[in-house]
Amino acid sequence: MRPFVHVNCAMSADGKIAGPDRKQMRISSEEDIARVRDLRREHDSILVGVGTVISDNPHLTVKGLGYDDNPVRVVIDPHGRTPDDALVLDERAPTVMVTSSSCDREWDAEEIVRAGDPLDLNVMLEALDEIGIDSVLVEGGGETIARFFKAGLVDKYTVFVGPWVIGGKASPTPADGDDPIMKKMTLESAEILGNGVLLTFTL
Ligand SMILES: NC(=O)c1ccc[n+]([C@@H]2O[C@H](COP(=O)([O-])OP(=O)(O)OC[C@H]3O[C@@H](n4cnc5c(N)ncnc54)[C@H](OP(=O)(O)O)[C@@H]3O)[C@@H](O)[C@H]2O)c1
Repeated sequence: MRPFVHVNCAMSADGKIAGPDRKQMRISSEEDIARVRDLRREHDSILVGVGTVISDNPHLTVKGLGYDDNPVRVVIDPHGRTPDDALVLDERAPTVMVTSSSCDREWDAEEIVRAGDPLDLNVMLEALDEIGIDSVLVEGGGETIARFFKAGLVDKYTVFVGPWVIGGKASPTPADGDDPIMKKMTLESAEILGNGVLLTFTL
């Protein structure tokens, strides 16, 4: 059995997850930030793509939790672009780096998974399952989320829609990438969370 995959992100009212400079923007309300904190605690792992590591340099940890209690951080980085001093590699939580089999890059991480060439999400999820990870919270960015949808590997999708119009053709969206996805989901709920709305879908 593969781990449960929950995709969560925040987007503007015009469907963008950041501005054209791709720098992190605060789209979430206070209430949504608290929800995401709880969501992180509920999952065994938090996953992002290398694009997010390079743009935002996130910690991907829960404030107040130590190394043993934080979820495992997972970075998909097929070409080994994650810098050694990225915050996601610090000592606050264990980190699994996922790269392609042809990439021989090493990191000071808990585990390095070489998941095929080209990188195969099913191989990655199998490897995560083997190290005891039952659930993955995919937080972005757009290209990574698109690939999970495309591979049919999303079980639940939550998106907070905040009160921004960002615009800009170059601004990333929750499901970026060249390939169309065309997947219909089931809306489970719509809930006002401060100045925005949380939409919950299952697949
Ligand atoms: N609002 C939000 O909730 C939120 C959350 C997170 C991020 N963001 C924003 O999202 C933007 C970054 O998104 P992004 O799309 O540029 O980057 P990304 O999705 O974080 O990373 C994309 C890169 O990861 C690798 N990758 C991911 N999945 C892969 C797969 N299945 N197979 C092969 N390679 C895979 C590829 O690396 P290679 O190119 O090396 O092949 C790909 O180009 C930033 O602007 C950030 O601020 C917003």
